[in-house]
Amino acid sequence: MLKQKIQNALDQTLDDQLETILEILSPHEKTFRSGDMVAELEDVKSLIKGILSDDIQHSKPLEELITRLELLKDKLSLSLEEHQVQIEEKPSVDKKLELEQQRFVAAYGALSQVIEDLDTENTPKGDTQKHHPKGEKTMKLVTPQTDKMTTTETEIKGDTRVAEALSHMLASTYTLYMKSLFYHWNVTGPQFNGLHSLFEEHYENLHEAGDDIAERIRSLGHYTPGTLQSFSKMSKVQDDNELPKDANGMLQNLVEAHELCNQEARRVLNIAEAENDEVTIDMMVGRMEFHDKSKWMLSSSMS
Ligand SMILES: [Fe+2]
Repeated sequence: MLKQKIQNALDQTLDDQLETILEILSPHEKTFRSGDMVAELEDVKSLIKGILSDDIQHSKPLEELITRLELLKDKLSLSLEEHQVQIEEKPSVDKKLELEQQRFVAAYGALSQVIEDLDTENTPKGDTQKHHPKGEKTMKLVTPQTDKMTTTETEIKGDTRVAEALSHMLASTYTLYMKSLFYHWNVTGPQFNGLHSLFEEHYENLHEAGDDIAERIRSLGHYTPGTLQSFSKMSKVQDDNELPKDANGMLQNLVEAHELCNQEARRVLNIAEAENDEVTIDMMVGRMEFHDKSKWMLSSSMS
C-alpha cells in the first residue's frame, strides 16, 4: 500500500515535470514551426502526451524524450546558424531578422534548460557519466565535444553554442596564422624588411590568440579542434594553394583574411552576448581590435 503511494507520488512529480516542459515550450511553438522543426516538435509532444496518458511504447521513455529534445535542439542550432549568416550578409540592419533571431535564441535557452533539468533529475546518483552528455548529440553538427571528465560547474548556459562559434574562430585564426607565417618566409621585393617584420608581429599575435581561444573552449567544458583537417573544414579563411605572385598579392590576401576573422569574431560576440558570456565577449572585442588594426596596417603597406 505504502509502496503504491510512493509510486503514485513519484508519478505525480513526473507528470508535473512533463506538464512544465509543455508549458515552457508552448510560447516557442511558433518559432519551432517557422524554423521547419514541426516534425521534431510533434515527436516531443506526442511522446510527452503518451507518457502522461500511460500509453508508453518505449521501455525508457525519459531517455527517449531527452533524445527527441536533443534532436529538436540540433535542428534549432542549425536554424540559428543559417539565420546568423543571413544577418551577416545583409548590408544594413534588418530588424525583422534580428527579432526572429532573438526568438530562436530564447527558444534555444528554454530547450537547453528543459534538457538539463530532465538529465539532472533522471540520472541515477553515482552515475558520473550521464546517459546523454550535453553536446553529444550536436557532435554531428558542431566540432566541440562535451568533456565528460570535466565538471559542469564552469559551464554557462548556452556554452555549446559559444564553444561551437569559438571553434570556427579558432580555425580561421590558425589558418591566418599559417598564411602570415608563409608570407613572412617568402616575401620578396623592396619592402622585404618591413613586411617580413609586420607578418612576424601578426603571426605571433595570432598564435597566442589561437591558444587563448582554444583554452576558452576548454574552460566552457568542451574539447577543441586542433588538426589541420578540421581547421580547413571549419575555417572561413582559405588556405593558399600557391604563393601570391608578389608582396601586393600577399597584402591583399591578408587584408581579406583579417576581414573574415573579424566577421567570425563578430559572430562569436553576438552569440556570447545572447548567452551573457562576458569573458568571451571581452576576448572577441580584443580580436576585432587586432584585426581592424592589422587591416589598416596591411592596406597602408600596399604599393
Ligand atoms: Fe622568422
